[in-house]
Amino acid sequence: MKTRTLGGLQVPAIGFGAMVLSPGVYGEVDDARAEAAIKAALDAGGTHVDTSDAYGPDGHNERLVGRAIKGRRDEVVVATKFGLAIPEGEPSRSYPVGYAFGELRVNAEPRLVRRYAERSLRNLDTDVIDLYYAHYPDPGVPIEETAGALAELVRDGLVRHIGLSNVTAAQLRAAHAVHPVTAVQNEWSMWRPVDADLLAAARELGVGIVAWSPLGNGFLTGTVQALGEGDFRHNAPRFSAENLAGNNDRYAPIRALATRLGITPAQLALAWLLHQDEHVVAIPGSRTPAHIEENLAAADLTLHPDTLARLGEALARFEVSGGTLL
Ligand SMILES: NC(=O)c1ccc[n+]([C@@H]2O[C@H](COP(=O)([O-])OP(=O)(O)OC[C@H]3O[C@@H](n4cnc5c(N)ncnc54)[C@H](OP(=O)(O)O)[C@@H]3O)[C@@H](O)[C@H]2O)c1
Repeated sequence: MKTRTLGGLQVPAIGFGAMVLSPGVYGEVDDARAEAAIKAALDAGGTHVDTSDAYGPDGHNERLVGRAIKGRRDEVVVATKFGLAIPEGEPSRSYPVGYAFGELRVNAEPRLVRRYAERSLRNLDTDVIDLYYAHYPDPGVPIEETAGALAELVRDGLVRHIGLSNVTAAQLRAAHAVHPVTAVQNEWSMWRPVDADLLAAARELGVGIVAWSPLGNGFLTGTVQALGEGDFRHNAPRFSAENLAGNNDRYAPIRALATRLGITPAQLALAWLLHQDEHVVAIPGSRTPAHIEENLAAADLTLHPDTLARLGEALARFEVSGGTLL
């Protein structure tokens, strides 16, 4: 697997996003299937595993990751996040999102950051987190203060690298002035452009970009025709029955391009992303070993400049119904 650098951290160009492995995200999954999926990712070279204390109840996803990497800890870059799984009785602030439920609740106060990290270390059954992100900026806390608390964790050896997720360019710059930020993790895929100012700031500061939902929550694989029960995407306007059908129709030229290249739409989506910047990496999620291997193989694809140009034109014409989430 080709590697890339995020700040000073070397990771595979394509890693593994574990959120899909907790119940109620993309429908049914049990722990045995989930652990097998993580192991399949590691075996295929996807050794950057991304989780969060907020995926699944009571650290469910982190505990899964901890079990799956047991005995292989040294092979893995373990990334997790804090700020949404708020301890009982602690206050929180509203962070508006475009999902049907309207908001997330965040607490990234510095006084809680060590407590969050210690809980994640227990869940992950490890003594250090390789990359620790603030999951969302807290509207009630200057990001410099959250970054200052993260810097103390690095100083004390609980965390190797710090990251920020879902931030603006200004927030990245402010935090980076307190302690070098290794990576920003924001949504970026063929149907969700990354913010141009954030990309410019990351390039200027030498901060890597971890693209979340690089397959557009599965849409870009071209295989999502309808959603089952217990699927989180029912909250996302782009996946309403009407929007999904129209979006699939308008996505057809890009699926056809993948077919002409002899690759899958998922592989085209991931390869396209890796061609956008040399310091971007993708963390697709999947419960299915065959999908995981297919996705990780996209790290080795080189797209011809003519293909990238044709794709750029097709994407410019691809009108997505269902608004934005952030
Ligand atoms: N920082 C944040 O705020 C944030 C937010 C969202 C996500 N994330 C991170 O990003 C990671 C990935 O995002 P995501 O899981 O939301 O979306 P994604 O990777 O864009 O898509 C996952 C979906 O695609 C399907 N899929 C994957 N590969 C496939 C293939 N080759 N063929 C057909 N279907 C395929 C999966 O289903 P199967 O299981 O059936 O393969 C799953 O339903 C998460 O795990 C998480 O680590 C971070």
